Amino acid sequence: MRVAILISGGGSNMVTLVDSMTGDHPARACLVLSNNADAGGLEKARARGVPTAVVDHRPFGSDRGSFEEALSEHLSNASPDLICLAGFMRILTPVFVTRWAGKMLNIHPSLLPKYKGLNTHARALDSGDIEHGCSVHWVTAELDDGPVLGQAKVAIKADDTAESLAARVLKLEHRLYPSVLRAVSENAPLPVMIDASKR
Ligand code: GRF
Repeated sequence: MRVAILISGGGSNMVTLVDSMTGDHPARACLVLSNNADAGGLEKARARGVPTAVVDHRPFGSDRGSFEEALSEHLSNASPDLICLAGFMRILTPVFVTRWAGKMLNIHPSLLPKYKGLNTHARALDSGDIEHGCSVHWVTAELDDGPVLGQAKVAIKADDTAESLAARVLKLEHRLYPSVLRAVSENAPLPVMIDASKR
């Protein structure tokens, strides 16, 4: 299976996905695509021999359609079986989501359906939640709303800040996303559930 990965920044999730696709894993990374030419993840992808491409969203301004057409051109050329959004920070229109429906996964730093959107760690803290985590889901037209394929959870500690919580959740993302990708690639049982909340 061919996997394209979309990033906007450091690409720590992309790195763990690429590094997981080895040996008898049925999938391999075929493209790392970013909306940000300065994304740190691009160099990490190149160092791993993965083809990269950049479509800077800024010249397109509010014309999301044309930006997404440029993304789809790179994706079509790479003919991916799966597309993993990994720290990709642009909202995608229903047109793009429909074009790639059934192939696109995303990782979101909350226990969906809680805390769709941004600032999830601060919101979990502010709500007084005792646990938090991350979810991998199929991408559908509504933001952070598709069927969940896996979740990993941690206990929130009394002295947690949004930063300390984010760091712990990110480590879980790096376990969850490769596990879900492998399960999807092998048609293995889903959802993948990781419970790191034991106090
Ligand atoms: C992180 O905040 C992560 O929670 C979310 O995207 C951001 C950047 O991730 N999934 P990455 O290091 O670029 O993969």
